[in-house]
Amino acid sequence: MTTMKSPLPDDSLEVTAMCLHDTLVDLVDLALVAKQAHWNVTGPRFRNVHFQLDEVVATARAYADTIAERSATIGVPADARATTIAKETRVTPVDAGWVRDDDVVATFVRIYAEMIERLRQRAADVEKPDPVTNDILLDLLQDLEKQYWMWQAQTV
Ligand SMILES: [Fe+2]
Repeated sequence: MTTMKSPLPDDSLEVTAMCLHDTLVDLVDLALVAKQAHWNVTGPRFRNVHFQLDEVVATARAYADTIAERSATIGVPADARATTIAKETRVTPVDAGWVRDDDVVATFVRIYAEMIERLRQRAADVEKPDPVTNDILLDLLQDLEKQYWMWQAQTV
């Protein structure tokens, strides 16, 4: 069995690996849900929402890679298999078929609010065990919170 020497001590490794894994699940499903909505959104705001969703996908995919590779770096293999994502995701799904632009915006406001809350907790949980992972999560939060503002701004 392959093992990687971790730069982290055992007591820091467990919580850090868990935070990285849960974030990876969030991001992989965020990209899937965003593409589903990107393809099926309808309504007068189609163009705006359609392209905004691809910004979500780009952010989610880029950070999923960073998060998965941080996990490998600390000695824990990443697990983003479809079965794992389906079983563990906490991301609100979009309905099958066409979805109205207003409903997409409302869904993504909710998804972002819930994901940011989970991420802030994880960032706090790894602050001492692994400042490097904490730094990655803070960078991710900066991007997600900015996008959260942009989703919310369409609802007022
Ligand atoms: Fe596209």
